[in-house]
Amino acid sequence: MDDPQRFEYLPPSHIISLLKLAPGMLVVDYGTGTGTYAIQIASAHPEVTVVAYDEQPQMLEHLRAKPQAKLSNIRIALPEQVTEFLGRADRVLALNVLHELGDEALKEMRELLAADGIALVIDWNAEIERPYGPPREHTYALSQAVERMETAGFSIERLPALRYHFVFRAMRR
Ligand SMILES: C[S@@+](CC[C@H](N)C(=O)[O-])C[C@H]1O[C@@H](n2cnc3c(N)ncnc32)[C@H](O)[C@@H]1O
Repeated sequence: MDDPQRFEYLPPSHIISLLKLAPGMLVVDYGTGTGTYAIQIASAHPEVTVVAYDEQPQMLEHLRAKPQAKLSNIRIALPEQVTEFLGRADRVLALNVLHELGDEALKEMRELLAADGIALVIDWNAEIERPYGPPREHTYALSQAVERMETAGFSIERLPALRYHFVFRAMRR
């Protein structure tokens, strides 16, 4: 997760531009892991608040150990803390996490979004042969991911793919 090579095929500046941030927004990095992209967003946009959310305390300990985790616009949240942000997220980033999520998590992701909030979903594309990431059989093709999200109550706007990833925006239906 902290391999800097990732930035070549998952460029933080591109991902941040897709989030279409504005001052005062609340962004939840859903399944932040060690917070690599939460830190990138918080550093580039001091005027937004980034909630780095993960269900694994060990991941968040790795994040806490990073000096940038002390940025004043980062909040670190475990499941019991994320409830504070339900219905308040202007943006959710779900990076490399959809393939790990069960139905309850998708429900939670939807409930985190404000009424006009947008989730940006970027995940390993099962249809692409790639040297990185989980085995293809553990990931979704774009059509499967879209179907899953639509079933969970989202409407989808497809975006241009990255080298190894599909990309779409998801809104509450
Ligand atoms: C493959 S890592 C990706 C981390 C990060 N988004 C990145 O790209 O660097 C997936 C992360 O999602 C977290 N995760 C999986 N299911 C989750 C859930 N239901 N709620 C919160 N976090 C979850 C895992 O603990 C893991 O840290």
